[in-house]
Amino acid sequence: MFASKLPHTGISIFTQMSALAAEHGAVNLSQGFPDFEIDSALTKYVHEALSENQVQYAPMAGRIDLRSAISEKIKAFRNIEINPDSDITITSGATQAIYTAITAVVQPGDEVILFDPAYDCYAPAITINQGIPIHLKLVHPTYHINWDEVNQQVTEKTRLIILNNPHNPTGTVLQKSDFEALEKLVTAYPSLLILSDEVYEYIQFEGRHLSVLDFPNLRARSFVTYSFGKTLHVTGWKIGYCIAPPFFTAEFRKIHQYLVFCANNTIQYAIMRYLNHTDLNGIATMYQKKRDHFLSLIKTSRFKILSCFGTYFCLLDFSDISTENDVDFAKRLTTEFGVAVIPISVFYTDQTDHKIVRICFAKKEETLTNAALKLCQI
Ligand SMILES: Cc1ncc(COP(=O)(O)O)c(C=O)c1O
Repeated sequence: MFASKLPHTGISIFTQMSALAAEHGAVNLSQGFPDFEIDSALTKYVHEALSENQVQYAPMAGRIDLRSAISEKIKAFRNIEINPDSDITITSGATQAIYTAITAVVQPGDEVILFDPAYDCYAPAITINQGIPIHLKLVHPTYHINWDEVNQQVTEKTRLIILNNPHNPTGTVLQKSDFEALEKLVTAYPSLLILSDEVYEYIQFEGRHLSVLDFPNLRARSFVTYSFGKTLHVTGWKIGYCIAPPFFTAEFRKIHQYLVFCANNTIQYAIMRYLNHTDLNGIATMYQKKRDHFLSLIKTSRFKILSCFGTYFCLLDFSDISTENDVDFAKRLTTEFGVAVIPISVFYTDQTDHKIVRICFAKKEETLTNAALKLCQI
């Protein structure tokens, strides 16, 4: 036997809710994955990759033709230059990029600020590296960052601050004023670094997505992580990338090369071909239609709908329906009413329960209609 490095980690709620949904034949709006078909052009490029025999290792940092295609997309989207050679590394999904960035910078005893409700892979990566997660709360129910609280918490011991924008699970997006507050903070603390998880950058419904990349003094000290799983609706491919300045990238790659060495070459080839021929700007409109379709159908339900500005998730407040805790309510919604959702308390280290559940609207229209009709019966 040996001591567990993550003694409090059990089976995730995503696995539990998906299993419960399957057992009860419920519509599964819990886990964040699309149920619609991918663009046939992408499938065609996978076939092309295989017929071109693109099946051996890729370079450690990723195919340079894919990194160049990413750099060109960023130039078109944000009008900034990212060096594909020194600043971009292709990873096996954003999860690996996040783990690698945290491992590259967090030393034992370093403090890392993250905001609850938080995506589930940040805190374990900090703990494994013997860092200390400092959980601050986004302000309910608008879920904005309380910068006064952040300013009070940051000390010389704070090594990293983790942002997620657009934000899973709340659907909020950072505003220019957030970046200005962050700029002030990093100016006061020169050793403070940033990990900005921007996997939903193409899914923002009003205005263009603002990234730390858009702010030179933030970009100079940031690791920024992305996921083709989210952008191209292929979550099972587990492919993403990390953008960081050259010194940061060199340290990132020292970990990356021993963790995975390189990401899947066949898929890198297919995505490179696809990016060179496809405009990604329609993604937000496609998801906005799905969001609006679903929300218009549940307008007459007893749920209160919270604002959703980005991602393919939205939050429903059930406090007018039940006083149960959100985990019990989510389970009952699955078993009795046939819709699987995720309770928000699981994204808090202290299980804060505001009687809110998260639904994923990255689904076919008929899936959303079916789920909405069931939710309206409650
Ligand atoms: C906020 C956030 N970050 C990272 C990830 C992980 O992305 P990937 O599947 O590319 O590892 C997800 C996936 O749901 C996510 O929602």
